[in-house]
Amino acid sequence: MQNKIKQIIKDAENFSANEIDKIEAFRIKYLSKKGVVSALFEEFRTIPSEEKKEVGQLLNQLKISLQNKISSLKEHLTKEAIAGNIQDLSLPGTSLNQGSRHPISIVRKEILDIFSRIGFTVSDGPEIEDDHHVFSALNFPPEHPARDMQDTFFIEKDPDILLRTHTSSIQVRVMEKSQPPIRTVSPGRVFRNEAISARAHCIFHQVEGLYIDEKVSFADLKQTLLYFAKELFGEDTKIRLRPSYFPFTEPSAEMDVSCNLCGGKGCNVCKYTGWLEVLGCGMVDPNVLEVNNIDSKKYTGFAFGMGIERIAMLKFQIRDLRLYFENDLRFLEQFSGVI
Ligand code: PHE
Repeated sequence: MQNKIKQIIKDAENFSANEIDKIEAFRIKYLSKKGVVSALFEEFRTIPSEEKKEVGQLLNQLKISLQNKISSLKEHLTKEAIAGNIQDLSLPGTSLNQGSRHPISIVRKEILDIFSRIGFTVSDGPEIEDDHHVFSALNFPPEHPARDMQDTFFIEKDPDILLRTHTSSIQVRVMEKSQPPIRTVSPGRVFRNEAISARAHCIFHQVEGLYIDEKVSFADLKQTLLYFAKELFGEDTKIRLRPSYFPFTEPSAEMDVSCNLCGGKGCNVCKYTGWLEVLGCGMVDPNVLEVNNIDSKKYTGFAFGMGIERIAMLKFQIRDLRLYFENDLRFLEQFSGVI
């Protein structure tokens, strides 16, 4: 009898099935009321009592190993069934959130593309600058208010090391290293000590442009900016230049574009003027050329600078500057699909 039981234990160990019907048949064969194990227990009663201890242990072992076998086969079956489900291609997929470019990146790229098409290169420079590159080399007089703590962030109160307040500093670096013809646009983050509101922020982004060559005139500046405005806001866009002042340009101007929302008729975005202020510009002051070792008798140049946040506000009708910095998905998702 012992050998018989051992043989059944072996058989049970070798048994394998991955269909529920076969596992059930196996269970009925061995563990049901009329199954093999019940029959063995019947037989057990008849054996001599000195064998009972050993055979009894074997019988229990058989019962446990059969039960373990059945539950492990069933467990395996459920795992396989789950794995089978995952491969069911008809199931709906898990949707992934699609990222989108930040509106500032979208507009920066667009501005740089427009100028690249007419031969401008893109130049870069440090955000932590010195007084020379941000102010002195750009003809800022020593008492100019921009040099005040109220307007500029200085590093550790050192009056020489500061966060750049405009990307004109990059253009100083370009002039230092190269001789005309220079045709470059400088994008970057700039910092000004301003209270944060819907219309102002202490961090924002600029693109500034510089063109120096022989015989560069104000007409070239105007035509370049007209081309830029039409590319950015549409073919019907008009521009106008109003006299202004910057230490590094003479003459200086501020450029407005015709309001692209009302077509110049007047609306609340253009405050019923029909015009939107977009950028500052002018002819590079000869002093600036000289400080940067460019012969101002031979060369002239123009420069312009704009805030990307402002342009993006006009393009996308964004009314609060703070939205750019809050990383609110409800805002950012509105730009998915805009290249
Ligand atoms: N640097 C000026 C600013 O930050 C913009 C500007 C650039 C104006 C070039 C004129 C010429 O406001």
